[in-house]
Parts: sequence; C-alpha cells; structure tokens
Amino acid sequence: MTDFVKIFDTTLRDGEQSPGASMNVEEKVRIAKQLARLDVDVIEAGFAISSPGDFEAVRRISHEVEGPVVCSLARAKPEDVDKAYEALKGAPKPRIHTFISTSDIHLKHQFRMTREEAKKRAVEMVSRAKGYVDDVEFSPMDASRSERGYLYEVIEAVIAAGATTVNIPDTVGYAIPTEFGELISGIKKNVSNIDKAVISVHCHNDLGLAVANSLAAVMNGARQVECTINGIGERAGNASLEEIVMILRTRRDILNIDTKIITEHIHPTSRLVSSITGIMVQPNKAIVGDNAFAHESGIHQDGLLKDKTTYEIIKPESIGLSRSTLVMGKHSGRHAFKARLKELGYELSDENLNKAFEKFKVLADQKKEVFDEDIEAIVAEEILRIEIPERFRLDKLSVASGTETVPTATVEIAIDGKQEKETGTGDGPVDAVYKTIAKMTGTKSKLLRYSVNAITGGTDAQGEVTVRLQENDHIVLGQGAHTDIIVASARAYVNALNKLEHKKKERKERVV
Ligand code: KIV
Ligand code: ZN
Repeated sequence: MTDFVKIFDTTLRDGEQSPGASMNVEEKVRIAKQLARLDVDVIEAGFAISSPGDFEAVRRISHEVEGPVVCSLARAKPEDVDKAYEALKGAPKPRIHTFISTSDIHLKHQFRMTREEAKKRAVEMVSRAKGYVDDVEFSPMDASRSERGYLYEVIEAVIAAGATTVNIPDTVGYAIPTEFGELISGIKKNVSNIDKAVISVHCHNDLGLAVANSLAAVMNGARQVECTINGIGERAGNASLEEIVMILRTRRDILNIDTKIITEHIHPTSRLVSSITGIMVQPNKAIVGDNAFAHESGIHQDGLLKDKTTYEIIKPESIGLSRSTLVMGKHSGRHAFKARLKELGYELSDENLNKAFEKFKVLADQKKEVFDEDIEAIVAEEILRIEIPERFRLDKLSVASGTETVPTATVEIAIDGKQEKETGTGDGPVDAVYKTIAKMTGTKSKLLRYSVNAITGGTDAQGEVTVRLQENDHIVLGQGAHTDIIVASARAYVNALNKLEHKKKERKERVV
C-alpha cells in the first residue's frame, strides 16, 4: 500500500527570506490561494511577530484560504507564540511552529544558553502553543549539527509536552544524504514516544543536496517535507517542492510513497511565484525550468517523434505545461480566457477581467498565437497598475536611433497628474529613454539589472523587460511588456519607479 508524505510549503516564510524576494500582503494571499489549488497540506504563511506585514499575511490567509493547515512561525518566546496565535485565530486548521537551536555552536555563540535552558524553553513554548491550538510543530534548529543524545532528549520532551510534528532542519545545508537518512532512523529508534508525532524535515541547499537529503529522510521514515516553490529560500534556498513531488510521483514504483499534490498546478504555481518575487527560474532547473522539456539533439528528437517515452520521463502535461495554450487566440471567448487565467493562478474582479480581456483581444489581433506567457504579461501589468499607486504614468514615447543617428528619446509622462514632456539623448535607445525619464522624475535610483526576454518565440513576440532598481536600501523590480522592446523597457522602468515611490512610503520594519 502506498504511504503518503505531507507537503509543508514555506515559500511565504523561508522562501521570502531569499534576498530581494519580499512580497506584499496581497501577493502572499494570491500565492497562498494557488498553493491551496496545488493541494499542499500545510502553508507556512509567515512569521507573525516579525513585521506588521507578516502578521497581516498570516491573518488574511487564515481567513481567506481554504483547505490546507495554516501555520505561523514563532521563536521559542512567549510573545512570539502569542502573536502567532493572534494572527492564526481565524484559521479553521491553525498550526503554531516554534523553534530553538539545539546545536552547541548556536547555543554557545548565538543563543548564549545552556543545553538544559534551551530544552526547558522548548518544552515551555510547546506547552504554551498547545494551550492555544492542538496542532503544534517544534523545530530543533541546526539539528544536523546537534549532538545526537541531546537532540533525542529534546525531541522526546517536546513530544511529551504536546508537539504533534517534530521538524528536523538541516539549517545550514551541511548534511549529506546517507548521514541525514541515518539521523532520521536514529530518531525513530531512540526517541521512545516518536510514534506520537510526525517526523518532518527542512533541508537547505548550500551543498546542492536539499532534495537528496529530504528524500533520504523520507526513505527513513520522515512523513512531512518542508519545501518551497522553485526552491527559493534563505541563501542557496530550500528543497524544491516540485522536485520532491515529482520524484515521489515518478518513482513510486520503487519508493511506494506519494503526496496528494495536484501536479498539474505545478507549472502555473512556479510562474506565479517567479513573477511575484522577480526571482527567475534557471532554464535548466529540473521540472519547471524552460528547458526541462526542450529536446535539442537530433537523436533525441528522432526518438521522441517515434515514442515520447524514449526521452521523456515526465509528461509535460502532468505538471500543467499545457500545449493547449496555442489554442488561445482571437477566436477565444471571455469564458475561456477566464478559465485559463484561473489555471494560471489569477482570479480577477469583473472589472479587471474586462480590462485584461480587452488587451488580450488587441494582442490576439497582432499575433498569430497567444501563449500563457503573453496572458501573464498582460495580467501582471493590470495587477501591478492596480496595486501600486501610479505617481508616474508613461503616456507617449518616441525614439530615433540608428547607425547615423544620436539615439534620442522624446518622452511624455504624467507626474502626479501633471503632464511633462522632455527630450534627451543616450548611448543607445534604451539609455536615451532611461536618462530622459530619470531627469523628468528626479530619481536617484541605480539600475542594478536590465534584462529583456522574448517571452514567446518569433519576431512578433511580446518582449518582457525586467529592471531592478535601487535607491538607498530599497530594491524593486519593474516589469513591462510590449511587442516593441523600447516601449517595454520604458514601461518596466516607470513601473519600478512607481514601486520605489510606494516602498519609500511603506517602510517595512522587520524585527528579525
Ligand atoms: O532553516 C531552519 O532551521 C528554519 C527553521 C526556522 C525551521 O528555517
Ligand atoms: Zn530554513
């Protein structure tokens, strides 16, 4: 009989700890709804005490997202546990996840506690959390570098205090698979009450082994895996959800263990997370990379044409990489458009749906085929417009450039509703546009990155431009799409400037 592993998604908590990946509350709610569609077992919605934004995200997800258990992280401190509960109150299935380190390195240098003090605190905070909710998870942080005998003692004590899940983190991504598997089997053998709790694992990817370590743990009895979409997370990231899920599904023949994930939602979820966080997925990334199902070699193509199983171990359709996106075109109706948006993880209000549909129709008239990426680009623009107050609005743009011309841009922008027009030059057409806009808006920002991506094939593709701008300690990502890449560049830049303005007003105060 097949056994099942719970999927605990921490994209919104550990994933958000990826440098530059911070998300606003609205974006977190959107991702959480998509995670519910994917049917994850647990959503770690945030770290309630860490910032007002995290608190609000946990609170809203608790009220608005149906299906999965909703969890908040809490240090082993009374105020953290209380705050986690306050944020989780509306959730039908709340979980408090509290943690403290158990390794001597952490206890000595960071926590400045003795082993006994840490164990006592762990037990007290699990009991406190248990006073609020039935479902309590405890993590002995840096477990893989903790002395085994002490680790077993702590685990036994927190289970006796009411922990229903014990999560074993490889916090610094130091373990190797055989060793980590043995750690889990050691816990199963040496912790007398281990049958009263689910063993979970939480592996970081510093040595590129997060997925392999998680898998070794599962093969040795772990029944919850903590992971993130696209493997984002602190430093080198966490174990990637899509890899764990697809390994278990594809190799069920020998592992005989599965998850209840609806895999057809994997690809849209990956796209949603990368478009919201601005963290691109590397093209050769397993499962969700652009090249994961692209066959280049003639021999492989020949085999595939004869029979897909020759070189394809996973059906692209099984992760929601639907070839049917080609069908979306000018004959598609509003209903089909809405359904496709839902599959891609977007649920728009009627008003926004109408706006997006109008744009889609215009694009469908210009292009032979409209792909998912085109639709996403349209929606991202609509959504970004709605969420970010538009202090600057790009109205008109014309550019002259060529082999014999000094690149010159004439830009019309509405600034706080007041129309401005300016002409400027630069080293190329994009440089001319950016310098002119920078002068008009008086921005002091630095352009950290500029990338242009033909998001669909062919010369009639939508160009998607992504810029990363920095002003003081604010870093933002702007995106713009258009069939003319200079216009897309200008839109991306103005979009980023509006976000910078917004960020400057809403400084997020993180406690940790
Ligand atoms: O990496 C880690 O140890 C963590 C814990 C808070 C579970 O993220
Ligand atoms: Zn972590």
